[in-house]
Amino acid sequence: EQRDQGSLSCCELDHLKRLPQCHSRLNELKVGGTHTVLIDVTYFKQAGGLIPYEGRDIWHSNYVKMPYSSANDMTVKTGLLKQSSQTQRWDVISKHLKALSSKKEANVDDVEEVIMKYNPKYKDQWKFDALSASVMRTPKEENYFFTLFPKIAKLALKLPNEVKKAIPLLRKGHTAAITLSQVQISCLLANAFFCTFPHRNASGAKTEYHSYPSINFTSLFGNWSERKQEKLRAIMHYFNVVTDEKTKPKGLVTFERRCMSAADFPNWRSSVEMLQKLHVTSKGRIETDGEGMLQVDFACSYIGGGVLSSGLVQEEILFLMNPELIVSRLFTEKLGDEECLIITGSQQFSCYSGFGDTFEWLGPYEDCLERDEWLRRKRQILAIDALHFKYMQEQYSMRKVVRELNKAYCGFKGHGHNEPDIATGKWGCGAFNGDPQLKALIQLMAAAKAKRGLAFFTFDDENLKHSLQQMYHLLVTEEITVGKLYGLLEEYCDAQCRPSASNVDLFEFIRYTLRRSKSLL
Ligand code: AR6
Repeated sequence: EQRDQGSLSCCELDHLKRLPQCHSRLNELKVGGTHTVLIDVTYFKQAGGLIPYEGRDIWHSNYVKMPYSSANDMTVKTGLLKQSSQTQRWDVISKHLKALSSKKEANVDDVEEVIMKYNPKYKDQWKFDALSASVMRTPKEENYFFTLFPKIAKLALKLPNEVKKAIPLLRKGHTAAITLSQVQISCLLANAFFCTFPHRNASGAKTEYHSYPSINFTSLFGNWSERKQEKLRAIMHYFNVVTDEKTKPKGLVTFERRCMSAADFPNWRSSVEMLQKLHVTSKGRIETDGEGMLQVDFACSYIGGGVLSSGLVQEEILFLMNPELIVSRLFTEKLGDEECLIITGSQQFSCYSGFGDTFEWLGPYEDCLERDEWLRRKRQILAIDALHFKYMQEQYSMRKVVRELNKAYCGFKGHGHNEPDIATGKWGCGAFNGDPQLKALIQLMAAAKAKRGLAFFTFDDENLKHSLQQMYHLLVTEEITVGKLYGLLEEYCDAQCRPSASNVDLFEFIRYTLRRSKSLL
């Protein structure tokens, strides 16, 4: 139904560029100043295999503090007199995980007991009712949880052998990337499952990691709800796949934090670019129909949002279907206004249906995406966090519009020419209360500057589909540049700030303003 009339109208989905068709050859994998690779690059080049890079642990505020670090100690009470003494926490962790891993079957009580051994401070706080209820409610024939717990423990124990090089934190204001193997990720996540990461449990403004998302899985295990149950099914399925020698994934994943500064951003007002291609559809989803494109994650500034607690909208669902994304929470500091995170190569393990309360884990997903020269799945996910508006009205301020333009541009801007187009939708317009018309234009402007086309999935919103198609047609026909559109947004924000503000929506306002300026000519 969407025909290219010249190029004045929206285009078909297959007129947009995707991987693998538009893949350009990668440079050799190498360790650079800001690129940390946790596998042995020389061995990878010579033999194509993935073995951990020999490195050393660094207990420092710029690196992930590892559970096995010799500086990670804890107080234990021993002897008849219960005297306190300091001991290495990894000794306690490994002793109990070993005991658990040697069992054929373990139940939730066993898991709880182990976790509390090295987290005694939280004895009265951490609950495991959601985990036990999930185990109990799973039908017997598909209940592999009892045999899986020991396997996750075994995987967690491999951490000192799998990840030997210190993992740098992706800190605020620093562009940097980390490439690691899917096995290394699984091993880190197994440790997150057993809540072994030090200094990551306390919350509060003064704690060491207050500007990082949580990583230990405690919050997934307590406060049962239907949502938690479905989440746990997805997570347990992931562990079931990665703990099996036959199915464990064999590739790499890159996490890149990209930061820009004022000088990198366009002067939006004076931009002369025309809009790029746009496809709008109410059918389909970013992650399925946008396969091979740069897929937008409607993120929280704390990456992954509520994935380990109760949140269950676009970002959380994405992280549950691709649990490797969760490891980003271990090292990605809260995103600032001029930053984004790009993840290349993560694998999809599950399928789902529904959204929020209707979300259901449907079953395994066989990921057939090809891999690039660095053995990464050809999947690119762009995490950008929109502003959260308590009141709709707040967003009609040019300061906020520019913040969103820059945020989107930071993510959309490519490195070369032959790059895939972008798959997005109502970014910031659900939990974050944004205006879908405004956010659609903002994303179109950022994409125009980045010279990339957009596939816009309205998520069943027919009205938005039609109105956006018409608006795009008008803007292209009238040859409205990014700068002109910026001017129109300014006028609209101005009008919205007046006490006499009407409830004319943005698209109506633009249509009216363009018509009026034509009639004045
Ligand atoms: N494909 C296309 N569109 C979708 C999809 C999908 N797979 N899923 C949802 N939508 P929301 P936000 C549409 O609320 O407002 C999380 O907790 C659907 O219409 O997830 O940016 C994060 O961690 C939905 O209403 O994004 C953040 O904290 C709309 O996109 C916060 O939510 C917006 O989805 C971000 O909230």
